[in-house]
Amino acid sequence: MKVLAINGSPHMDNGNTAMILDPFLEGMKEAGANVDLYYTRNLKIGPCNGDMSCWFKNPGKCGQVDDMQMLLPKLKDADVIVWASPVYYAGITGPLKNLMDRQLPLHIFGESSGRRQKVVLVSSCGFWDTSMFDPLVTQMKAIYARPDGNTEFAGALLRPGADAMREMMKGDGAVILKSIFEAAKEAGRQLVKEGKISEDVLKEVSKKLLSDEEYKKAANLMMEEMKKLANQ
Ligand SMILES: Cc1cc2nc3c(=O)[nH]c(=O)nc-3n(C[C@H](O)[C@H](O)[C@H](O)COP(=O)(O)O)c2cc1C
Repeated sequence: MKVLAINGSPHMDNGNTAMILDPFLEGMKEAGANVDLYYTRNLKIGPCNGDMSCWFKNPGKCGQVDDMQMLLPKLKDADVIVWASPVYYAGITGPLKNLMDRQLPLHIFGESSGRRQKVVLVSSCGFWDTSMFDPLVTQMKAIYARPDGNTEFAGALLRPGADAMREMMKGDGAVILKSIFEAAKEAGRQLVKEGKISEDVLKEVSKKLLSDEEYKKAANLMMEEMKKLANQ
């Protein structure tokens, strides 16, 4: 099974999104999948210029020469595509959206790719309310409800309150967090072995760690620390 994961966080492997993405991919590897991981920050990918030449003038080919030339065949061949992004203003990050838009040569209207693919979203956000992810999940569902029926949205690993989670890792909270990372890993194993991820595992990844009061305290502490760091 070929897995292509793309992380749109500028923090790459040191970010909050990677805290969930990495064990998820690890679980898939353990179950035998071949995993390729890219960070948009390391890729040179410009925005789609919207001229539709990839549909009409040169069907299936993009006129822009950048890292998308390397990624398009990988996106076409993958059995599973994992889109990973922090929530930025109720959406995915700009570089990841640019990359998604540039897939147009693979999705020519009325043509079937002929390949069955599963798609997973991995996301983290600062606020503790999972409704923060609603626009991202809605977008994924809308994209992958394409009429050719070849792609299936297999679920989302969503981690709210992710900045507080990073704070908790420094203290006793690390024990509680273990179950979240383990659930992310289990989600990867399940997707490869069973072809789907159970609702229970997804719930565990998103589980509430702190009461609203505790969360606000932790968030304020983090802000203070960040201000101190910035003024050093
Ligand atoms: C420009 C910007 C916009 C953000 N917008 C939101 C938002 O709308 N909702 C939210 O809950 N968090 C928001 N955040 C916080 C990030 O989603 C959160 O810190 C995330 O876990 C960062 O992941 P990363 O470390 O992988 O980049 C925003 C952060 C930045 C820098």
